[in-house]
Amino acid sequence: MTKRPVIRRDEMLTAVLDLGGGPIDLADYATTGLVGVAVGPRGSGKTNAGLLIAEQLADQGWVSVLVDPELELESLYGEAMSSPGELQRCLRTRDRKILVVCAKDAEEFVPYGEAILEAADTHRQPIFCMIDEGQLFSAVKKRKGEIGRATDLINDFVGRGRKRALDLFMTALRYTGTVHREVFANKNLTLIGVQEDPTVWSSLAPQFRGSKISFSDVNSLSPGEFFCFSRQGVEKVKMPMAGALSKVARRARAPKRVLPANFSQWARAMSAIPLPRLQALSDDVVSLMGAVAGLTPQQMVDGANALQDELGLRT
Ligand SMILES: Nc1ncnc2c1ncn2[C@@H]1O[C@H](COP(=O)(O)OP(=O)(O)OP(=O)(O)O)[C@@H](O)[C@H]1O
Ligand SMILES: [Mg+2]
Repeated sequence: MTKRPVIRRDEMLTAVLDLGGGPIDLADYATTGLVGVAVGPRGSGKTNAGLLIAEQLADQGWVSVLVDPELELESLYGEAMSSPGELQRCLRTRDRKILVVCAKDAEEFVPYGEAILEAADTHRQPIFCMIDEGQLFSAVKKRKGEIGRATDLINDFVGRGRKRALDLFMTALRYTGTVHREVFANKNLTLIGVQEDPTVWSSLAPQFRGSKISFSDVNSLSPGEFFCFSRQGVEKVKMPMAGALSKVARRARAPKRVLPANFSQWARAMSAIPLPRLQALSDDVVSLMGAVAGLTPQQMVDGANALQDELGLRT
């Protein structure tokens, strides 16, 4: 049997992440490694968050591997790996600090994932792996076929990464029903982007318990803004743009969210809601959503009356 040196994450002791809030000292992660997750809808800035961390770690001794299903990163960080063999070579020589892996789905990912795990196992030099659109490579439940193998591999990254100096960051569209719970159960850096759907709050709320952060705080986040949960606590961050992205992408303008202020604005907003949607708003659903949104009894009554009026007009 080959003897393995006991891994010491010395690079972690001095490394720091700057995600737009207070500095995140990776010394606090030296015994666990980094398992990061960013959750948010399209355009909320998840990929940028992963790239920012990848760039910062690449500057502090890691080789960052970007798993890119959208084929958008080659133009930013140079030609993608042509084969799992090339990836393994690059992880041995470590002369390129950021490596792009194009993988549109689990099947394309698996051989590269195996190469990463194998390189981590053999060399035990710090690797950071950013898996974008995690839901493509990790399934909630045990599944057969390539998605099952990809899910197992990523769970291996999570479970065995610590001793192999392999750190992980995944982006996902939603908090539940996307990636395997092993990832969520072990994550130690969490970025929550804007949430527009009040019904997801029930699954998110435990995360925010004791923090005084409410659904409306999460609902009003702009692109690039996240609630960041790290070993240092929770804070709202306005994330800087990753270097490579800031050269080509425009900073997103924060959409102004305002409540309709006069009758014609209300009427326009109301008429944009299709009838079946309004009809689906049963008393129970309205009560639930009102409770989640923290409405007063008077607001509930006004809302219920407006709904009845609109339904009366349409049917
Ligand atoms: N920190 C930021 N500050 C300002 N603008 C940002 C920031 N992060 C992202 N953006 C803007 O939002 C756009 C979308 O960002 P990004 O691609 O990271 O989002 P995403 O959540 O990965 O979206 P998708 O799910 O579509 O891949 C960027 O092209 C950029 O214009
Ligand atoms: Mg993205």
